Amino acid sequence: MGLLRRYNRGLLMPPRPPPRLAGAPVVAAFFFSILLLPAPPAEALPFVVLHGIADQCANRGVAKFTKLLADWSAADGYCLEIGSGTWDSWVMPLQQQADIICKKVKEMEELSGGYNIVGLSQGNLIGRAVVEYCDDGPPVKNFISLAGPHAGTASVPLCGSGILCVIVDALVKLEIYSEYAQAHLAPGGYLKIPTDMEDYLKGCRFLPKLNNEIPSERNATYKERFSSLENLVLIMFESDAVIIPRETSWFGYYPDGAFDPVLPPQKTKLYEEDWIGLKALDDAGRVKFVSVPGGHLGISNSNMMKHVVPYLVDKPSVSTSLVATWYAVKEALGLAENDVGVLLHPHHDQIHHPSAITLCI
Ligand SMILES: *[C@@H]1O[C@H](CO)[C@@H](O)[C@H](O)[C@H]1NC(C)=O
Repeated sequence: MGLLRRYNRGLLMPPRPPPRLAGAPVVAAFFFSILLLPAPPAEALPFVVLHGIADQCANRGVAKFTKLLADWSAADGYCLEIGSGTWDSWVMPLQQQADIICKKVKEMEELSGGYNIVGLSQGNLIGRAVVEYCDDGPPVKNFISLAGPHAGTASVPLCGSGILCVIVDALVKLEIYSEYAQAHLAPGGYLKIPTDMEDYLKGCRFLPKLNNEIPSERNATYKERFSSLENLVLIMFESDAVIIPRETSWFGYYPDGAFDPVLPPQKTKLYEEDWIGLKALDDAGRVKFVSVPGGHLGISNSNMMKHVVPYLVDKPSVSTSLVATWYAVKEALGLAENDVGVLLHPHHDQIHHPSAITLCI
């Protein structure tokens, strides 16, 4: 009503010179007036954002990302921090990080009726551990994964300079599957060298368990819980040079023993033998394999709208569809060239330093 009146009043104003770019400003005004309407009461389930390595909730990129998703979906969104943030994201073993998040989600009253997870890079593995092992935790409905190294990564992105990078580099060179590296370097938990599978299965403490890779240690509960997700959205970035291969975002990976070729998810043993229920979910039509342009986590606003927000809203509301339409119109009008969205990078402010770009996994 209010909207209609506002719109009509505009039309009843005394005649003015016609707008030079007929159409576009009117369309824009229309959409913006909708955006200014008070948000409907939050009925959608809340969501949590789990950030990647070398990042923290206080950083501008993640904070903005969380806020945009909350605004667009009218859902409450929480970025959950682990320990000290950046430092712990590097050096705390992933199982310990997952235990912290499991404890937090159980303590959050807001999540008790169920919630959705939005994972960024390494945060996806923590999220999946929460789905699979967090006993008595609140139910997870939708899992939206951006650039998750789900099947492992064959390279630790190194940073270049700074004390942290020196330590990381030294640990990797020391021996990634050693007790020491496993206990002191988070990415050691999912670094998977396809030509060294024996050491990986023996020494890697996190991913083999998460993916039910060790035949004698498979736990049917992980599969049961993972395959009960309502939707699993796997977003891969076409120019991702941080997680290797980028298809790991879809559970694709190298075959055991070789760096070639990259197997599509459906051709991996994890899928064929259905170790964690990925195939069951896919057969039920609940896995969305999404590919978007951009480098690691460089998602545009329009792609956030298209591929993330629909899983956070209860039912797509009028204002959500309108915002989505607005982005589509903008894209169609060629106005979207600056639509790089939130670059989810802790070093957003210094993105021109190429060495910083490889930091965030
Ligand atoms: C399987 O995992 C569940 C969930 O963490 C756990 O409660 C159960 O004890 C595990 N079963 C075995 C056989 O390890």
